[in-house]
Amino acid sequence: MAFSLLTRQLTASLQQNLRLTTTGCRYVSKTATKTESEFEYDAPSMKTPVPGPKSKELLRQLGDIQNVGAVHFFCNYEESKGNYLVDADGNRMLDAYTQISSIPIGYNHPALMKVLTNPNNMSAFVNRAALGILPPDNFPEKLVESLLSITPSGMSRVQTMSCGSCSNENAFKTMFILYRNKERGYNGPSEEDIGTCMINQSPGCPELSILSFMGAFHGRTLGCLATTHSKPIHKLDIPTFDWPVAPFPKLQYPLEEFVRENAQEEARCLEEAEDLIVKWRQKGKPVAGIVIEPIQAEGGDNHASPDFFSKLRNIARKHGCAFHVDEVQTGAGATGKFWAHEHWGLDDPADIVSFSKKMLTGGYFHKDELMPEKPYRIFNTWMGDPSKNLFLAEVLNVIRRENLLEEVTRSGKALLNGLYALQAQYPHILSRARGQGTFCAVDARDDAIRDSILIKTRNKGAFLGSCGERSIRFRPALVFKEYHVHQLLNILNDVLAEHK
Ligand SMILES: Cc1ncc(COP(=O)(O)O)c(C=O)c1O
Repeated sequence: MAFSLLTRQLTASLQQNLRLTTTGCRYVSKTATKTESEFEYDAPSMKTPVPGPKSKELLRQLGDIQNVGAVHFFCNYEESKGNYLVDADGNRMLDAYTQISSIPIGYNHPALMKVLTNPNNMSAFVNRAALGILPPDNFPEKLVESLLSITPSGMSRVQTMSCGSCSNENAFKTMFILYRNKERGYNGPSEEDIGTCMINQSPGCPELSILSFMGAFHGRTLGCLATTHSKPIHKLDIPTFDWPVAPFPKLQYPLEEFVRENAQEEARCLEEAEDLIVKWRQKGKPVAGIVIEPIQAEGGDNHASPDFFSKLRNIARKHGCAFHVDEVQTGAGATGKFWAHEHWGLDDPADIVSFSKKMLTGGYFHKDELMPEKPYRIFNTWMGDPSKNLFLAEVLNVIRRENLLEEVTRSGKALLNGLYALQAQYPHILSRARGQGTFCAVDARDDAIRDSILIKTRNKGAFLGSCGERSIRFRPALVFKEYHVHQLLNILNDVLAEHK
């Protein structure tokens, strides 16, 4: 890729901050200092390659019980602190993947340990309530303290759930129920509806659909899987619905340099999405809802502009489709705003916003009109976990007290600039650096090189993830400071310098 003036300027200014060594450039942190030093290590410390001998033995033991093909190594969570994950062999790694993007403020954060040891909270941990029928007496108060303090614009209701897939699955059901309620003019179901739903027939089980996007990931349960299109491994052999799949824009990066080309690509995708909505209505399978991630994560960190989302929101409105924004991975601050959709600048960004991961509890916010009118329509045994709301309330306190969204913006800038510098220095290996906040990615030349970089980086003390076909994904906790960014970039640089 040809680098523009902007990229070259960025690279040049970055290189002024670098001390050159024989293996390439090294970052010397001038501004960033640790503020949580009482609970954080100084640096990675490696004793063995990863997985080490203990992890290998545990892998063998667990392999006798279940499939361990995806297990990287075993962890010592007691010893892990802040941004550092300690493994079973005593290796301490800087963690920029954080349990698939789900640790909000680092390992064993003292504020969360206090929540755990507070005697007033004990009963919430010991007695997991069936929230749909027997919520604890402090549940409304705790919801107000935690989830209702961060409601997305235009929403006043929240339903907790246990995980991301289960949140999306129930959000989809909510959109279908709304669609049918509107069709019936909010009159109750007919005898025919009641009879046919029991034998999986229409109109009780209506031929409705949800529009999703190529490259999307919304979970692995049956309904969610019909909207997931990131990798065949998730979908193979599983029956699914005939629901429309629109193209997600394939943008060129850095976004500022390809504004015209990217706008054309987005216009193409929007046109196709609208055509599909019309086509599926004609087929007798109207689109009740559109589901989309603000940044496609598992599918390869694919971005789209605020203008794209704003126009898609309008298309949803025009065609009477509910608009569901899946913030399971993007939510809770990693992009520098609490919700990634806040970057769109819309007053009415969505009808439903689902969350999980860094939020510690799953669930979804929604508008009033999506409130189910009868009990048990949206229901399961636990419907979330009140003890997670206690942690979430404290996580939100820490985010506010320590200005972590500003911290993420600052660290994210350092990380993205560092990735620009690395791709300029190793253009034969890296390309397409992109990101918002610390929610960043860069592509390797192919998947084999990507995987080899990840393993070598891990053995040098930094743990990263992958996404899409050949992307490296960065998903640090919100307490990942510039200091940590520089540690990470130094390790990556060492790996790239050794790469043949
Ligand atoms: C955007 C998005 N939606 C849904 C999910 C599914 O969440 P879970 O794995 O908790 O079911 C994920 C998980 O990675 C995700 O990234």
